[in-house]
Amino acid sequence: MLPRLLVFLLAAVIVVPRSASAITRRDFPEGFVFGAGSSAFQVEGAAAEDGRTPSIWDTFTHEGFSYDGSTADISADQYHHYKEDVKLMHEMGLDAYRFSIAWPRLIPAGRGKINPKGLEYYNNLIDELILHGIQPHATIYHFDLPQVLQDEYAGLLSSRFIEDYLAFAEVCFRSFGDRVKHWVTLNEPNIEPIGAFDTGTEPPRRCSYPFGENCTGGNSSTEPYIAAHHLLLAHAAAVSLYRDKYKASQGGQIGITLLGWWHEPATDTPQDAAAAARMNDFHIGWFMHPLVYGDYPPVMRSRVGDRLPALSAEDSAKLRGSFDFVGFNHYLILRVRSSPEKKKDSGHRLGDYYVDAAVQNPLVAIAEGRIESPPWALGKLLEHLRLNYGNPPVMIHENGLGDAPDTPSAIEYDDGARIEFLQDYLEVLYLSIRNGSDARGYFVWSFLDVFEFIFAYRMRFGLCGVDMNAEARTRYVRSSARWYAGFLRGGELRPPPAAAPDDVRPYAA
Ligand SMILES: *[C@@H]1O[C@H](CO)[C@@H](O)[C@H](O)[C@H]1NC(C)=O
Ligand SMILES: *[C@@H]1O[C@H](CO)[C@@H](O)[C@H](O)[C@H]1NC(C)=O
Ligand SMILES: *[C@@H]1O[C@H](CO)[C@@H](O)[C@H](O)[C@H]1NC(C)=O
Repeated sequence: MLPRLLVFLLAAVIVVPRSASAITRRDFPEGFVFGAGSSAFQVEGAAAEDGRTPSIWDTFTHEGFSYDGSTADISADQYHHYKEDVKLMHEMGLDAYRFSIAWPRLIPAGRGKINPKGLEYYNNLIDELILHGIQPHATIYHFDLPQVLQDEYAGLLSSRFIEDYLAFAEVCFRSFGDRVKHWVTLNEPNIEPIGAFDTGTEPPRRCSYPFGENCTGGNSSTEPYIAAHHLLLAHAAAVSLYRDKYKASQGGQIGITLLGWWHEPATDTPQDAAAAARMNDFHIGWFMHPLVYGDYPPVMRSRVGDRLPALSAEDSAKLRGSFDFVGFNHYLILRVRSSPEKKKDSGHRLGDYYVDAAVQNPLVAIAEGRIESPPWALGKLLEHLRLNYGNPPVMIHENGLGDAPDTPSAIEYDDGARIEFLQDYLEVLYLSIRNGSDARGYFVWSFLDVFEFIFAYRMRFGLCGVDMNAEARTRYVRSSARWYAGFLRGGELRPPPAAAPDDVRPYAA
């Protein structure tokens, strides 16, 4: 084993040093948290049980809009299997489990009365985790808006969302904050407004032509910015409340988790280089800039103009510094091409987010399956945060490999490709920390197979497999789970690579 200093020196001259094979968890900073995650809608099931009401995602899936037409009514059924799952987490050696609290389960009418059965479920889950020495890391809002609030005032499009969200968050702090010390206000608020209000491919399916088709109404030029604005203000309100009223006695940390796609130019032209930089500002800066500097990025202000809501001095002050850490969910890079600037005289029609960013819509690559996951992109993301946003404490809240076994029944297979994937990313994470990034945690997505928001059950991300066709929802421990357990017990990265099995088609080619 090479001494750490030598590893560091080699790292400075060799891009991916082979000597990194000696990395173990002890090479990560003191207190670094290794975990795995899920979210309520994706994992719990029990959709209509014990008083839970539908979320906008239940409506969407029941109307047949998921990728494979399926629903998450049962999914992995963690609602009934949480004890078994926590036992598996304990055997895996996880420091922490990232989960979310279903708003329509805890407060079925969206506001007001707390559902005692919902309260009981999360108390049980949290107690079970703590009993097994696993830190609960809770996300308050993870896409599953109660449908009643969508029906009543159009959900995220109304500023009434902010007060209802705040009341929900306060129930969480008050009920669970004695045990939950890591709070995430919102999951991926920098993509939710795009799917929901620009392309209209996610609930509540709002968009306007030509940016999306067959929507239930909407305005792709304005609504994504309005929704994001309300999400930002809701986040700031929850952090202020936590800091004013709960933090001193409960002693926890609170942050927000963004989607961390990384954008690279598609060609080496200066136009595409500028386009990729703009997209990083539109994607990451949309939230990071207000959180660090109190306003939207200048490039968004100038390009979106008065469709970008104004921030009052008070909102701005509340937003600035409103996090103890920032979470990032990192999966892939998108190659960005600039799109020709609109001619002034042809500009009758307003653009959407991508037209505003003057790029060709890079999501097309995902739709066409052109997905790239080079591990160095995580390094670039962390470097970008370090250089542009004052090196915030970062939790990598999601990172993982989706695969689609040819046989849908293939649940227990040798997922050597996932082991390779995790090692590649952990190596880059280690090197980023060596370079000065303040990364403090890493959560594999996902702890077990779940309903995926984009791919439903067509892709599996789980360290543990779940037989979605068996009533018992049998769990299977995959090789990647065994590998992660070994790493968490002190094992080194890069044991001899397992041969990639024939029946597994990795999606990150
Ligand atoms: C919209 O509906 C038309 C007619 O049903 C269909 O052909 C088209 O594929 C739909 N577009 C999208 C994006 O769903
Ligand atoms: C969207 O809203 C803007 C601002 O109110 C308006 O100018 C534009 O015409 C609307 N677009 C559609 C498709 O309704
Ligand atoms: C670390 O910094 C060096 C020098 O700036 C850079 O070349 C390398 O890509 C960085 N590595 C990561 C993982 O950030």
